[in-house]
Formats: sequence, structure tokens, C-alpha cells
Amino acid sequence: MTIHIGAKSGEIAETVLLPGDPYRAKWAAETFLSDVKLVNEVRGMLGYTGTWNGQRVTIQGSGMGMPSLSIYVNELIRDYGAKTLIRIGSCGGMQEKVAVRDVILAMTATTLSTPSRGIFKEMNFAPCADWSLLRAAADAAQAKGTATHVGGIYSSDVFYDERPDLNEQMVRHGILGVEMEAAELYNLAARHGCRALAVLTVSDHLLTGEALPSDQRERSFGEMVEIALEAAFA
Ligand code: ADE
Repeated sequence: MTIHIGAKSGEIAETVLLPGDPYRAKWAAETFLSDVKLVNEVRGMLGYTGTWNGQRVTIQGSGMGMPSLSIYVNELIRDYGAKTLIRIGSCGGMQEKVAVRDVILAMTATTLSTPSRGIFKEMNFAPCADWSLLRAAADAAQAKGTATHVGGIYSSDVFYDERPDLNEQMVRHGILGVEMEAAELYNLAARHGCRALAVLTVSDHLLTGEALPSDQRERSFGEMVEIALEAAFA
């Protein structure tokens, strides 16, 4: 047990999928895994371990934002020995070619600030995805025929952004979408020699104002879980 995860030693798999929403963790575990066991419910941040095609997988909620994700990912890596960590979440589209429901595979994650800022100080570290996971996810998405974009995303600290000028610069520099967690996941994976990737569904669009109705989010989310699982065990 750790401060924020109640799982016993050995109850967390080396491969962990990380949705922000704990109820998404429950849905994904019950939908895609076999022999599922609830391994964490501290603070309602649900985590489940089961098997997919005979391989052990944990699906653990990370909460919203990099400070929350940092707590769970630090404990998963340092205390439970997680080695492959894949964020499965939503993002806001930032380019015309990116449509709502499309999938984005985050090659890099630009930020204004992360919980790792104290380490990097004046250095602009470039958080990037693990290449083997990125390539396998792109192959899995292509095989499914999922509309997919691979490129840079922006991990923001705020959902209600008071800096439209910053979004304009992100759009201008080809950033595909905005979310709130991937950069710190990549920082932590780099620090601890783990593999990480963020697979994201576009749930809303900053240029068009379009947003995916909640009843349609589940189907897009399902494709994303399959892509993440196939990439993890490719
Ligand atoms: N996650 C999903 N949509 C988002 C947005 N527009 N901004 C930040 N995070 C998001």
C-alpha cells in the first residue's frame, strides 16, 4: 500500500492504462479485461487489474491535471514497479484537419509548467513518447481504420484558459490538441526508464466549438482503449 493506492504488493501489473476519470477505469476494465479485480478505491480513484489476451494489465484513474497524475504515476512506478504507462483520455482539437472523434497519438507534449519544473529550472526539457509504443499504436490505429493524427500536443494547467494568445501560438505551431496530463507522464517515464504514451480522443474543438455528446464519447473511448492495449503488447 502507498499513501494514495491501496493495492497490495503484486496487485499492480507492469502495464498500466491511465484514464483521468476513475469511472472510465471501471468501464474499460469491465469491458476489455478478464478476471478483473478492484485493487484501489482510495479517494474513489478506482484501479482494476485483470488480463487482456492473457497479459496482466492495470487500469488506474489518474485524476485531472498533472499534479494529480504525478501522485499516481510516481507511486505506480516507484512502489509497484510499473514499466509501461499509457494515458487514455480526451483532448480539445487545435487544428482544422483534426475532427471531433479523431484519435491523437502524442509524440511530444509542450507545457508552460509541470510538477517537474523545479528540476529542469531554466531548461526546456522536451517530454516525448516512447517510440516503440508510438509506432505500435499508429499501426494498431491504421489497422482499425481509425482517423488518427500523430504529432505534438499541449498539456495545460487550466481547462478554463484566460490566455487565448497562448492557444493561438500553439495552433500556429501545429499543436494538434490540448489536454492536461501527458507532459508530466512523459517526464516521469523518462526519469525512471519507463515507456509512456498518451492516446487521446478529440472530445471538443477549440476552433469550431464543437463538442462530442456524452452518449457518443463511450464508443470513441473504446477504440482508444483497444489501440492502447494493442500497442502495449505489440
Ligand atoms: N480535455 C478535453 N478537452 C480539453 C480542453 N478543451 N482543454 C483542456 N483539456 C481538455
